[in-house]
Amino acid sequence: MKKRNIFISGASRGIGKSMAKHFAKSNFNVVGTSRNNFKFDDDLENLLPIKLDVTSRNDVKDCFDELKTKNLLPDILINNAGITADQLFLRMSDDDWDNVINTNLTGTFNLTKIFLKNMIKNKFGRIINISSISGLMGNPGQVNYSSSKAALNGFTKSLAKEVGSRNITVNCVAPGFIDTDMTSYIGQKERNEILKKIPLNKFGSPEDISKLVMFLMSDEASYITGQTISIDGGLLMY
Ligand SMILES: NC(=O)c1ccc[n+]([C@@H]2O[C@H](COP(=O)([O-])OP(=O)(O)OC[C@H]3O[C@@H](n4cnc5c(N)ncnc54)[C@H](OP(=O)(O)O)[C@@H]3O)[C@@H](O)[C@H]2O)c1
Repeated sequence: MKKRNIFISGASRGIGKSMAKHFAKSNFNVVGTSRNNFKFDDDLENLLPIKLDVTSRNDVKDCFDELKTKNLLPDILINNAGITADQLFLRMSDDDWDNVINTNLTGTFNLTKIFLKNMIKNKFGRIINISSISGLMGNPGQVNYSSSKAALNGFTKSLAKEVGSRNITVNCVAPGFIDTDMTSYIGQKERNEILKKIPLNKFGSPEDISKLVMFLMSDEASYITGQTISIDGGLLMY
């Protein structure tokens, strides 16, 4: 059987990098992107880094053309690139709002729009959007980020309803606190306060997210669509 192609936005660090390496070692063809030129330290021929800003439709179109030529259009799209620009709402600048929405939400639109047609043609696809528990429970200082991530949950459900009949599943993964650059600003005191609210009493690792995404990509998960699955050590429970 042909190796599946995976596209991961935001793969130079953190969760995206962990997924890229994990999936390449599991014998998928993996394309990982970031705004800057970067390399994967592993020398795997099925792991390709590409410079691409998800907010730039020109970048996205150029990338599509390159992948089409290389026969690497994705069967599985992981919309992972995300940023924060935290600030209390009254102090939040227009740029803080625009940058976060453009990256986290519109970036997901840009990539999904361009890659979906080929999945429909192939009658197979997996789209996994990396959201956040901040989009489910809110977080002070993150009106922009929470809005972008909550929107991804709606995006996921609506698209899942549109493309389910084409054998394409669309799901969201909503991490809690994961040890990456994104959470490295949290000092020990604040960390201890957060830990009190996490039943498993620890931050997650990027590998925890990779394993869940790996499952959602698999045939075992072929009847799961339109869902937002939290992975947060029990921080959020309904
Ligand atoms: N860490 C957590 O606790 C946590 C919790 C909940 C949800 N999440 C979500 O999980 C995802 C990954 O987070 P992370 O913790 O791994 O973050 P990270 O370590 O800060 O990595 C973010 C990645 O996204 C890339 N990126 C940012 N803006 C981009 C753009 N416009 N175009 C292309 N790539 C871009 C970055 O590369 P460049 O900077 O080189 O472009 C980097 O590779 C994000 O969507 C985040 O919101 C994380």
